[in-house]
Amino acid sequence: MKTVQLPDGSPMPALGLGTWHMGESPRAAAAEEAALRHGLDLGIRLIDTAEMYGEGGAERIVGRAIEGRRDQVFLISKVYPHNASRRGVMAACERSLQRLGTDRIDLYLLHWRGSVPLAETIEAFERLQQDGRILHWGVSNFDQDDMTELLSEKAGAHCSANQVYYSVSQRGVEYELCELLAARSMPLIAYCPIDGGALATDPLLTQIGRLHGASAAQVAIAWLMMRPGVVPIPKAVRLEHVEAICKVADLRLTQDDLVQIDRRFAPPSGPEPLMIV
Ligand SMILES: NC(=O)c1ccc[n+]([C@@H]2O[C@H](COP(=O)([O-])OP(=O)(O)OC[C@H]3O[C@@H](n4cnc5c(N)ncnc54)[C@H](OP(=O)(O)O)[C@@H]3O)[C@@H](O)[C@H]2O)c1
Repeated sequence: MKTVQLPDGSPMPALGLGTWHMGESPRAAAAEEAALRHGLDLGIRLIDTAEMYGEGGAERIVGRAIEGRRDQVFLISKVYPHNASRRGVMAACERSLQRLGTDRIDLYLLHWRGSVPLAETIEAFERLQQDGRILHWGVSNFDQDDMTELLSEKAGAHCSANQVYYSVSQRGVEYELCELLAARSMPLIAYCPIDGGALATDPLLTQIGRLHGASAAQVAIAWLMMRPGVVPIPKAVRLEHVEAICKVADLRLTQDDLVQIDRRFAPPSGPEPLMIV
């Protein structure tokens, strides 16, 4: 599996699987666990989750899926903003570790900005890192201004990544934010890379996919993977979807494909509010 580099030089897999909406229904649990395990069998090495997903349910599914193979996986989880206080982060992280059945999280993110001062959250993240409970920390849903503020905080520059909505149809982050992250060698983790599934039926992506023997969803993910430092984390429960995602690394889009995509989904010409779901 291709990797990207975190600011400290550590590798992070360049493609992962998301888990939003997993762990919400006991009836779906076995299929969700099987989907993640299938992804790992096929070479996926990164799983993204959060304490919010299924109120801990998704972390439990991930914990079962990675049982016996923890060392193969780069694990991302996220803390709720209302748990982002000095003490709140420490307690939330312990709960996540327990649900995940592990002694460490590779990358722990603040899910979005809340009312707790950033300095407090950073202090807790740094402490967890010193204790080895997390290996790196980062943020999610931070726009250009949030990032600038974060970087001005003591130890704010230790932030390893920002996870934001980024897809062929939602390109606002290309205006300044991508550059800011790249200048600090921080990967951009792209959530909703298939627009929640909607891009799977896009006519242009379908047409481009046909030329490569690929699907529209695969084209959407491949387009993100071609961008330096961008790590898409599509979510899939259906096994055929998981298999399609695992094959994306082999898909090479041509210059002509990229031009057509730019024509249909134009890059931003000015600042746009960050898309958040
Ligand atoms: N930080 C944040 O605030 C934030 C917000 C949103 C999401 N996220 C993370 O990002 C992950 C991805 O985002 P998302 O789950 O919202 O949306 P997404 O990955 O863009 O889309 C998921 C949908 O696409 C379908 N799909 C997957 N692979 C496909 C394929 N090869 N062909 C056709 N359809 C396919 C899935 O179907 P099946 O499930 O039926 O297979 C599912 O319905 C989340 O799971 C979560 O981990 C983070």
